[in-house]
Amino acid sequence: MKTIVSASLLSADFAELGREVRRAENAAADWIHFDVMDGMFVPSISFGEPVLKSVSQLTSLPLDVHLMICDPIRYVSRYAKLGASYITFHLEAADSPAQVISAIHDCGAKAGISIKPSTDAREVFEYLDIVDMILVMTVEPGFGGQSFMDGMLRKIRIIREECDRRGLDMLIETDGGINEKTASLVRENGCNVLVSGSYLFGAEDMKSAVDSLR
Ligand code: DX5
Ligand code: ZN
Repeated sequence: MKTIVSASLLSADFAELGREVRRAENAAADWIHFDVMDGMFVPSISFGEPVLKSVSQLTSLPLDVHLMICDPIRYVSRYAKLGASYITFHLEAADSPAQVISAIHDCGAKAGISIKPSTDAREVFEYLDIVDMILVMTVEPGFGGQSFMDGMLRKIRIIREECDRRGLDMLIETDGGINEKTASLVRENGCNVLVSGSYLFGAEDMKSAVDSLR
């Protein structure tokens, strides 16, 4: 199973955003992870459409948009138009997750569903046949630089086993506290897309840091 590394811009130096995106590209990151926070679903406010517009002009890497916002369907078409390849929303934030998934697909993007640490893995089962990616949060969403929660490994495994049982070649992404140590744990349990922010952007040699996650 090929491992995809998605570099989370939340930990980049925003005064040097162009340079930081180029750094991730040169380090052979596969995707750029873009965390949108609304101050409601999570306590923080991060960045949104104008910043994504600039980033999409800077890179041809797939843009992996993680919506940590209430009622995400409102923003799906805007982020798709700005070039998001993947749009992931939180199961906990949507009244009708199936409708959000079809709205994302109607815009030509791939759809992901994310679950917070307190949400049971089985909650995503009813969407496995219609979604492209499951994002298992391995920290409470809202901030970079937190410690990985070991208890989430079991959730990754439960979802991977169910996908295998159904013959689904699913992307399972993890986000939060991913570094060279935790990367092998999540991979062993069936994760194939690793988001990493502070570990990658804080590295002196980002290329070796990316390599250490694969
Ligand atoms: C947290 C964000 C993450 C964050 C991860 O809510 O969704 O993408 O950037 O940061 P690290 O890798 O530092 O835990
Ligand atoms: Zn994220």
